[in-house]
Amino acid sequence: MAWWLIVLIVIGVLLLGVAIHDVTQKRHAILRNFPVVGHLRYLIEAVGPELRQYIVADNDEERPFSRDQRRVVYATAKQENAYFGFGTDNDIDRDGYLIIKHATFPITTPIDKKATLPSAKVMGEWRDRPHKFRPESFVNLSAMSYGSLSAPAVEAINRGCKISGAMHNTGEGGISDHHRHGADLMFQFGTGYFGCRDANGNFDLDQLVESVNSANVKCIEVKLSQGAKPGLGGVLPGKKVTPEIAKARGVEVGKTVYSPNAHTAFGDVDGLIDFIESIAGATGVPVGIKSAVGQIGFWTELTERMNARGEGPDFVAIDGGEGGTGAAPLAFSDHVALPFRMGFARVWREFAEADLHQHVSFIGMGKLGFSSEALVASTLGCDMIGVAREAMLAIGCIQAQECHAGHCPTGIATHGSWLTRGLDPTDKSVRLANYLTGLRSDITKLSYACGAMHPTLVARDAVELIDEPYGSMPLAERYGFTGEDNRLSPGQAADLAEIMRAQASLAVTAAH
Ligand SMILES: Cc1cc2nc3c(=O)[nH]c(=O)nc-3n(C[C@H](O)[C@H](O)[C@H](O)COP(=O)(O)O)c2cc1C
Repeated sequence: MAWWLIVLIVIGVLLLGVAIHDVTQKRHAILRNFPVVGHLRYLIEAVGPELRQYIVADNDEERPFSRDQRRVVYATAKQENAYFGFGTDNDIDRDGYLIIKHATFPITTPIDKKATLPSAKVMGEWRDRPHKFRPESFVNLSAMSYGSLSAPAVEAINRGCKISGAMHNTGEGGISDHHRHGADLMFQFGTGYFGCRDANGNFDLDQLVESVNSANVKCIEVKLSQGAKPGLGGVLPGKKVTPEIAKARGVEVGKTVYSPNAHTAFGDVDGLIDFIESIAGATGVPVGIKSAVGQIGFWTELTERMNARGEGPDFVAIDGGEGGTGAAPLAFSDHVALPFRMGFARVWREFAEADLHQHVSFIGMGKLGFSSEALVASTLGCDMIGVAREAMLAIGCIQAQECHAGHCPTGIATHGSWLTRGLDPTDKSVRLANYLTGLRSDITKLSYACGAMHPTLVARDAVELIDEPYGSMPLAERYGFTGEDNRLSPGQAADLAEIMRAQASLAVTAAH
C-alpha cells in the first residue's frame, strides 16, 4: 500500500477517535455539537492574545501595554532605534489626552546617558533615620516576588538594577539568593510576613533585623495593598513551596501558606505608626508603606496622626488600580482601587493639607515606565517611580498574560525548568539596565524640553489635559490641586538643582 494512503488512514482513524470522544463526552457542549472542528475554538482562544497583538490590534489599542509602548521598551532595552516615523497616529485632541508644554528656550546642557537621575528628596530625612539616603535613581524596580517570578528573572532584574544604579524591590516573598547580585534592595513584606515571620506566621522583629542585615537592604516597605488586588489575601499552594522558596519566605517546604487579607501586627492608624517606628528603630533604615487608594478616610487620619505625633512613614508608594499582579480575580483587577493619577493626587493632597508633603518621599506605580507618564507623575508630586511589568517587557515578556497559569512562554513568570532555561540572566540584565538608563535619559530630555533640569523641577502647569470639545485644562486643576506648586521646599529644590548642575558639568567635560 502507498505510504500516503497509510498516513491518510491513520489520520482518519485518529479523527474518528476524537469525534467519538467529542460526541460522547458531556463537559463541553461545543464539542458535543461540533465534533473535531469544535477544538479549533479552544485553540484560537488559547493563542488569541498572542495573535491579536501581532495581527489584529492597532498601535495604541491593546492593554495593559499597547504595541507602541511595547516597541519603545523592547527597542530601548536592545539599544535599537526607538524612534517613530511620519508623526503621531493618535487623536491628539480627544478628551483627557495628555499635552506637555515645552519651553521656548529649553535646557541645552548635554545629557550623560549613564547618569542616574536622583530622587528629588532624601528618604528618611524628616525622621532623621540613621541610614537616610537619597536614592540614586528616579526609576526603580517595583515589587515582584521570587515565586511570582522565576529564579533567572529575579537574578536578571537584580543584576540589571546593579548595573543601572536602580533599587530592586524584593516583593513580598522574602529575600532569596537571586536577590543577592549586588543591587540595593527595598525589602518588602505584606500580611504573610515572609522573611520576617515566626513559626505561626506572625510578625517577628528579630527575624526582620536578621533578614535586613543579611543583604543589601537600604529601606523597608510595608505593603498595605497593591493596585491589582487590594484587600485580598493570598494562597501559595504547597506544590509551589520548593526548598528555595521556603528558605526565602521562612515557611515549611511543600506546605500551603496563606496570607490573610489584613495585617495582624497592627489594626489601626496609630498601630501602623508604632509598627513603622519600631522597625525603623530596630534597623535604622527608612521605612515606608505601599498602598492602592480606596477610601480616603485612612489617609486623612494617617496625616492627622503623623502631624500630631511627629512620627510616621518615610515614604509612601502609591499603586494605581491599573497595576499588575501575578494572579487576581477579574473584579479586583478591573474595579477595585482608583487609577494612579486620581488616587495619587488624592493622597498627595492629604499630605499637603497637613503640610507633610515635603517630609515624605512619594513613589508612584501603575504603567509609569514611559517618559511622558513619568513626567506627569513627577508633576503630581512623585519623587520617584517604580516599574514592574515594563521591566518584565525589557527582559523579554511578550504580554502573553499567562503569569497566573504557570506556563509563561518567556520563562519570566513560571518555574517550569524547560521554560526558565530559555532566560539567560546575564543577557537580560543588560537589557534591563539599557531600558532603565534609556528611560531616565528620555525623562531628562523631556524635562530639558520643559526648561528644567529634573522632572520634579518641571512646573506643574507644564502639563495639560485636553478637555473636549474645544478646550484644555491644567493637570493640576483636573486633579484638584489648588495653591502654589510647592512640591519641594526652597532648600530641597536648591539641593536638587545643585546636584543636577554638577552632573551636567560632568557630562559637558565628558563630551569634550
Ligand atoms: C508578576 C507581578 C508580581 C507582583 N508582585 C507584587 C508584590 O509581591 N508586591 C507588591 O506590592 N506588588 C506586586 N506587584 C505589583 C507591582 O509591584 C506594581 O505595583 C504594579 O504592577 C504597577 O506597576 P507596573 O504598571 O509598572 O507594572 C506585582 C506585579 C506583577 C506583574
